[in-house]
Amino acid sequence: MIDDWCEKYRPKALNEVVGNKQGKERLMEWAGAWKGREKPQKKGVIISGNPGIGKTSAALALANDMGWEVVELNASDKRDYESINGIAGVGAVNETFGIDGSFVPKKKRLILLDEADNLFGREDRGGVRAIVEVLRKSQQPIILVVNDYYSLVSRSGALRNLTLQVDFRRPTKRGIANLLAKICEFEGVEADEGALTLLAENCKGDIRSAIRDLQLLALSPKIDDENVLSLGGRDREEDLFRVLAKVFKSNTAQEARTAFQSLDEAPDHFLLWIDENLPIEYKKPADMYRGFYFVSRSDLFLNRSAKRQAYVLWSYAIDLMTAGVASAKEKPYQGFTRYRFPSYLKKMSLARKDRGLRSDIVKKIDEVWGRGSKNLDLVKEIAKKDPETVARKLDLGDEELSFLVKG
Ligand SMILES: Nc1ncnc2c1ncn2[C@@H]1O[C@H](COP(=O)(O)OP(=O)(O)O)[C@@H](O)[C@H]1O
Ligand SMILES: [Mg+2]
Repeated sequence: MIDDWCEKYRPKALNEVVGNKQGKERLMEWAGAWKGREKPQKKGVIISGNPGIGKTSAALALANDMGWEVVELNASDKRDYESINGIAGVGAVNETFGIDGSFVPKKKRLILLDEADNLFGREDRGGVRAIVEVLRKSQQPIILVVNDYYSLVSRSGALRNLTLQVDFRRPTKRGIANLLAKICEFEGVEADEGALTLLAENCKGDIRSAIRDLQLLALSPKIDDENVLSLGGRDREEDLFRVLAKVFKSNTAQEARTAFQSLDEAPDHFLLWIDENLPIEYKKPADMYRGFYFVSRSDLFLNRSAKRQAYVLWSYAIDLMTAGVASAKEKPYQGFTRYRFPSYLKKMSLARKDRGLRSDIVKKIDEVWGRGSKNLDLVKEIAKKDPETVARKLDLGDEELSFLVKG
């Protein structure tokens, strides 16, 4: 079995969790309040923040520090609500008195609802109500982990009132790089310091993805900058696909909008992705029609905002391409969609590459025969007849030669 470094190096104690000093302190304070006879006022905590920054780890580590058992709840399973009621209520009866009459608390159980954003189905208000109910009467600590705090509490004011909010931020580049260095040391992997800093920077706070990349890169004898750069835009595309899926498959305008905000992508660029993939996702003509209406309106606003330097118009454009497109469908299409890279961008980058090749070749012609660009067409003709000689004379690479021959 390949060991998964993310699991292997999951922090065991809260002080091993990188970053979020304040968040960790709040958690500790809250947990401390469970030690007494009186239950703390707020039975639950909502830990919110971006993926891969240590939210789940912090909850588990806290439980470990406190000696709490963890009951992980999968609330997508309806039956769980019944069992959680049971678990949440048991605390009081389990408390006993020692022989000398002193109070002996039984082991606490942490009820953990991980990825609670997904747990409450979109129409499933019952799930939220059940959790609120549990938060009211629980004798046990409860932690909900979500990516987006506001989208959760907007469903229920009670949820907001009954919980403590702990917002996790992206850990710093330095903190992440140090962690990566420690892992390398432990695994006997040789790595440039600069390369680890680069990895830490590229992951934008997502430690999970940084560790995954590290494990992949560790297959090479030494990790250097070039290795890291070769990972390229992989994560970026994954991110884009995820946000596209949110926009296309979500039921609420808000969700589509926030998904885009989590992405570090220029709106005009993102619109190309929407434009390319809308007809792949929206199969009903009416949905497609309405969808493209929003795409074209969005494009209009983008152009206006650029022309007039009126960047408030950007936010309209963004609303149209996210919330607008999301609401264009009658109902979401089920199942997985394989999204495509925008063909316009592909063409552009090919064109850019061609331009690069062309200017390299012109330079070489200039060195050998002079009159660089004026001789280009002539050299092309010769190359078609005798590619090898031309390649040898000009010292051309394969790509350059094929550019000449096909052009
Ligand atoms: N702050 C952190 N400190 C140490 N390791 C972390 C941290 N954040 C993430 N990791 C690593 O990434 C993995 C996934 O983290 P996790 O806590 O599940 O992230 P989240 O719940 O925020 O998506 C962990 O198993 C751990 O190896
Ligand atoms: Mg998690």
